[in-house]
Amino acid sequence: MTLAERVERLEHSPTLRIAAMAKRMMGEGHDVLDFSVGQPDFPTPSTVKEAGKNAIDANRTGYTANEGILELRVAIVEKLREENGLEYDPREVIVSPGAKATLYFLAMALFQAGDEVVIPAPYWVSYPEQVRLADATPVYVEAGESNDFRLTAAELEAAITPRTKAVILNYPSNPAGACYDRAELQAIAEVCVAHDVVVVADEIYERLLYDDRTFTSIAALGPEIKQRTIVVNGMSKAYSMTGWRLGYAAGPRDIIDAMGKIQSHSTSNATSITQWAGLEALRSAGADVRRMVSEFEHRRDVMLDRLLALPGVTCPRPAGAFYAFPNVSAYFGRSHPGGVVSSALDLAAYLLEEAQVALVPGEAFGAPSYVRLSYATSVENIEEGTDRMRAALDRLR
Ligand SMILES: Cc1ncc(COP(=O)(O)O)c(C=O)c1O
Repeated sequence: MTLAERVERLEHSPTLRIAAMAKRMMGEGHDVLDFSVGQPDFPTPSTVKEAGKNAIDANRTGYTANEGILELRVAIVEKLREENGLEYDPREVIVSPGAKATLYFLAMALFQAGDEVVIPAPYWVSYPEQVRLADATPVYVEAGESNDFRLTAAELEAAITPRTKAVILNYPSNPAGACYDRAELQAIAEVCVAHDVVVVADEIYERLLYDDRTFTSIAALGPEIKQRTIVVNGMSKAYSMTGWRLGYAAGPRDIIDAMGKIQSHSTSNATSITQWAGLEALRSAGADVRRMVSEFEHRRDVMLDRLLALPGVTCPRPAGAFYAFPNVSAYFGRSHPGGVVSSALDLAAYLLEEAQVALVPGEAFGAPSYVRLSYATSVENIEEGTDRMRAALDRLR
């Protein structure tokens, strides 16, 4: 069968090989410690689960408004006002089945052939592919380790051409946990306004922020930047609701309407039950979120200490999310009886075989000197896993 050319443009994930190996080994009964997962290991808060069950019992199981139930959009408007200092009308909010779908509809509504979209690297794996699916061109700008994986306004400005349509900003970031402060965002916002660049602000890890940091949405920095920003967020990470599939976007009415058109002809609405559960999450799960965040922060500290104790490894301190992104290039060129480690991909394969530790090689995120470890797992696992890594790395010659 001849497949559409757009599918040929999609890249196979370089992590698939490692994920397939990990799965095979787990299936064979090996004790694999999995640091590759991108989801919280906590259960969904019980009040939220109850709200989902109640929605079923109350027969709230039919189609909803395409853009999401009004109650939820009103709650999102309130959340954005109270937590982010942002004013929106419910008609400027759309609810979709997950932030990933939200970002996809946004890409389809906004980008077209000839457009360039600036993506700071390291980046979340789906941004380049979504940009390509929309016929536009991803333009990568390295946000280096020396600046804790944050893009500077000058780096952004240098990447802008007459074709630049947008920049995708994700903070706290997947894969590095990088977060911007207000002054940095102000400088980036000024560049975007000056060059008429749209900001796609992926704020899905907003609540998972440590060291008493406060979150600033770039859209809150003034009317000029707000009118060219689409804020994307969702329930997956903060409320441990990955499987429920609930995301949303807030932004100018024309773009939200356009996303609604695409959604109406593809997924229709986000699941009705999920929307009622999501409403409850916004209303009552604040204490659950704070508990999870405090546990993540503790694990971040343990993970970071242990990674920094590995000879040759450097790792900026993650400000948020639940990933560490250490530089492992000191091990490139070293060998083991089975071959030579010449990339993060090789190192990930070696650690999986030798230490039964699964992590994601940096090639997946456009940063081939690094690996990503998720600390959405227990402290015992983090301790055991980093011990095993150390022993295996010590055996490299
Ligand atoms: C940076 C980032 N954005 C968006 C998503 C999508 O989240 P969801 O579709 O579960 O809402 C993820 C999930 O891994 C992510 O890491």
